[in-house]
Amino acid sequence: MVEWIRHYLYRLNQRLTPAPAAVMEMIVATWTSQAITVAAQLGVADALAKGPLPIEELAARVRADADALRRLLRALISKGIFRQRRDGRYELNSLANTLRSDARVSLTSAARFYGSQEQRERWTLLVDSIRTGRSVVPALRGKESFDYFADHPELGELFDQTMTSVSKLTDASVVAGYDFGAFPTIVDVGGGQGPLLAAILAAAPSSRGVLYDLPRVVVNATSPLQQHNVAERVRTVEGSFFDSVPAGGDAYILKNIIHDWPDHKAVQILRKVHAAAGPRATLLLIELVIPEHDRDFPGKWVDLEMLLNLGARERVAAEYRNLLSQAGFHMIRVVHTASPLSVIEARVG
Ligand SMILES: C[S@@+](CC[C@H](N)C(=O)[O-])C[C@H]1O[C@@H](n2cnc3c(N)ncnc32)[C@H](O)[C@@H]1O
Repeated sequence: MVEWIRHYLYRLNQRLTPAPAAVMEMIVATWTSQAITVAAQLGVADALAKGPLPIEELAARVRADADALRRLLRALISKGIFRQRRDGRYELNSLANTLRSDARVSLTSAARFYGSQEQRERWTLLVDSIRTGRSVVPALRGKESFDYFADHPELGELFDQTMTSVSKLTDASVVAGYDFGAFPTIVDVGGGQGPLLAAILAAAPSSRGVLYDLPRVVVNATSPLQQHNVAERVRTVEGSFFDSVPAGGDAYILKNIIHDWPDHKAVQILRKVHAAAGPRATLLLIELVIPEHDRDFPGKWVDLEMLLNLGARERVAAEYRNLLSQAGFHMIRVVHTASPLSVIEARVG
């Protein structure tokens, strides 16, 4: 209902603007996102964490030019990010708080990753992906995205942190939307640093978890697990899901994994899960299942990101059913959550 109301308010907002102006606003929306990235790169929100500051002091703390920083903040304030007090000092507001590195759901990493030179460069080549139907990354970097991260650990770690913070946006809704507590052992395949597994185990005190991901990723999994006080119930296993998947799970979770791969690779991963899962195990794909409607939906944009970066895609429910059956699974149902993510439940057979 909220999504529906937002959609119609957005359309109303567009109709109150002449069409060329409405499209122009969308064309230059990248300026807004890059300005947010700059605030994150400079650490402006962290610098204001202890209270309001005049521009000169703020500029000194973040090592910026005072006049340029004032202009950056004027633009961001016009979009509702940061606030200027009557006495002229700048302070945080609720949107600016999300750019603090110590916020519960901090978007600092996301702002730095999506506004990074590497990421922006890829998006300037979107036209190539639309022409060819392929990722631009192999031609641009000489290797696939996840291999590029392995060779550029700083960018790889920023990506992993981004996945963790983006996951925190939706974890509570996913946990509330499905009864994970029914499974004694839950294997999170490609679980990243483990934020969702940690949230699930915090709500399911008698369950245990296995966190499985590439070696460079699981090594940094301690913080989400410790934050939720579940580290002693989680075994971390490193490896590639193209080689094998840990056996012994009652449930196998793959969140935002299948969307990273084209169909033939997705089926390979699902077959490895099938080989590891016992006959009574449940498979749970947690994905941005594309809805039938024409309204805005995050998955329609992440879909382009998947095409560009990985030659992959977001899918409708029928496409998941088809992939699952190719790997020997039977799709039972799709459970929608209060977030844009859905839980696709499947069983062996
Ligand atoms: C889009 S992220 C999703 C992470 C996490 N499930 C989440 O939703 O926040 C994809 C994950 O797949 C992992 N991954 C990529 N290739 C892998 C492989 N061959 N074996 C295991 N994990 C892999 C990445 O390291 C990353 O953590």
